[in-house]
Amino acid sequence: MGSVVATVVGPTVCHRCESSHRAAVNWGTLRYRRVIERVNPSLRLEAGRRYVDSAWHALDIQRKVESMQTALERPSLVPTGRRVPPWWWFAAVLALSIAAYSLRIAFLGEQAYTPELAPSFRERPLTVAIHTLFGPVALLGGLINLLPGMRRGRMWPAHRWVGRAYVLSALLLAGAGLSMAFHAAGGVGPQAAFALLALGTLAATVQAYRHIRAHRVRQHREWMLRSYGLIFAAVMLRLWMPALMMLVYDGQFIPAYRWAAWLAWVPNVLVVEWIIRRGWRPAFILRDGFAAAEPAQS
Ligand code: HEM
Repeated sequence: MGSVVATVVGPTVCHRCESSHRAAVNWGTLRYRRVIERVNPSLRLEAGRRYVDSAWHALDIQRKVESMQTALERPSLVPTGRRVPPWWWFAAVLALSIAAYSLRIAFLGEQAYTPELAPSFRERPLTVAIHTLFGPVALLGGLINLLPGMRRGRMWPAHRWVGRAYVLSALLLAGAGLSMAFHAAGGVGPQAAFALLALGTLAATVQAYRHIRAHRVRQHREWMLRSYGLIFAAVMLRLWMPALMMLVYDGQFIPAYRWAAWLAWVPNVLVVEWIIRRGWRPAFILRDGFAAAEPAQS
């Protein structure tokens, strides 16, 4: 977290106590600074002023910034009034379609295998079944827990149960995915891409779980975003494949697959890191003393 400092320094300007007060808020390194700016734009101006007219004023700026950071970092303190965001519906339609596609393979087995992948799948039907059965659970579970409403106080029990199902499914699907990765079609490129994807998913999910067991909410949220960004590769792969096959490779599966195996998850990782660094914006209503502040719109 960026440092927030408000110190009392130097001689004589304050008409109350006859000293000069310095409010030095290291704005550039503040976590959530964009959100803080949007909610309370005047705070940035106040914080930027090196000298303010009272010790109370300097400490007040510090208190406001810290309190806003706390509010943003602890979802339990953040009642959300926001409805389901538009991006969620879009992601839900995609995730539901891919979940149905995957479950079809899990339940129908061999009849539903993609022809180009069928020879490899026939050699390990149980691994494929585990992968295609738990894939949809993680894909849909993660999406449900991303709903703002699932982080409201009364929804915590549901959030935790969905979260447990997500973690278990993510570990199973990625474990199966890792063993399938060594036999993936298209050679060493896709094999490396899927193996790294599986290892990344396992690591991010374990990290997210460890952090919440230790009540580190912010780190939990960040690692869950990373984990879900990787799981969402299942959706992106099935968007890239038809696009590449139709637009670039004249209907050929394998050349498109070589690119799609990487494109399915590398951009997701970059987008998630960008979201985390910019300060993720959960819906929130600020606590004490921020009655004038508006909840963030996005
Ligand atoms: C995030 C980690 C994941 C990894 C590492 C992974 C890895 C793999 C691998 C290696 C294959 C076989 C590719 C081949 O033989 O060429 C595969 C196929 C498949 N995966 Fe995943 N996968 C992941 C996530 C998911 C999720 C979340 C779902 C479901 C929603 C899913 C559904 C499928 C399906 C349906 C297939 C069969 C391929 C097809 O016919 O299109 N995967 N996956």
